[in-house]
Amino acid sequence: MNFISEELDQYVVKHTEDEPELLKELTKETWQKVLNPRMLSGHFQGRLLSMLSKLISPKRILEIGTYTGYSTLCLAEGLQENGILHTIDKNEELEDFSRNYFDKSEFKNQIKQHIGNAIEIIPTIEDKFDLVFIDADKVNYPNYFELVIDKMNKGGVILSDNVLWSGKVVEEINKKDKDTPALLEYNKLLKEDPRIETVLMPIRDGLTISRVK
Ligand SMILES: C[S@@+](CC[C@H](N)C(=O)[O-])C[C@H]1O[C@@H](n2cnc3c(N)ncnc32)[C@H](O)[C@@H]1O
Repeated sequence: MNFISEELDQYVVKHTEDEPELLKELTKETWQKVLNPRMLSGHFQGRLLSMLSKLISPKRILEIGTYTGYSTLCLAEGLQENGILHTIDKNEELEDFSRNYFDKSEFKNQIKQHIGNAIEIIPTIEDKFDLVFIDADKVNYPNYFELVIDKMNKGGVILSDNVLWSGKVVEEINKKDKDTPALLEYNKLLKEDPRIETVLMPIRDGLTISRVK
């Protein structure tokens, strides 16, 4: 969901860095062959992820929710030389699709793909992280935070996507909806946890930036 008008959104994209050709190709193939292509970060958010990663200049990145690899490639743009990006997705059917794009990129040897449930995989990764991007199942956001917070380097950044959940965080909650209550708990947790400082940005579906003190 966009919280600004279509016209303004087009203006914003027009005045933002162009989308790299490989990502245009990845987007086209995702729309042709994969379910739920709206899950892609897309041009504007992708350039923001790239910019943030370049500003942070991380040695180690963790991404939770690879999907077809769009945000992975954006985040990898900021990696230090010899830096490593770990990306996790439980959907094994997307492994070859995303690997194909990682292999075509300059980050071929820097992206480590993990297939399986992130809850089980995160504790097995021994690295400490400078940048984490959380973009998987919303009900587990509080669990992902607890799993990564002790693996963060001082000054490290946790980015969390979809935290406004199409505006549902300020609406009456449907009894069957498990995602909105999890996000409400998560947003409160980020605001109150003394180990981090947090800014919730109303960009696309809501993107929170939390810096580890
Ligand atoms: C919104 S998509 C990620 C989009 C991607 N970050 C991008 O911007 O292009 C969410 C992904 O999380 C994955 N996912 C959901 N629950 C998961 C879990 N428990 N462990 C690992 N991956 C999970 C889904 O398979 C899906 O591919």
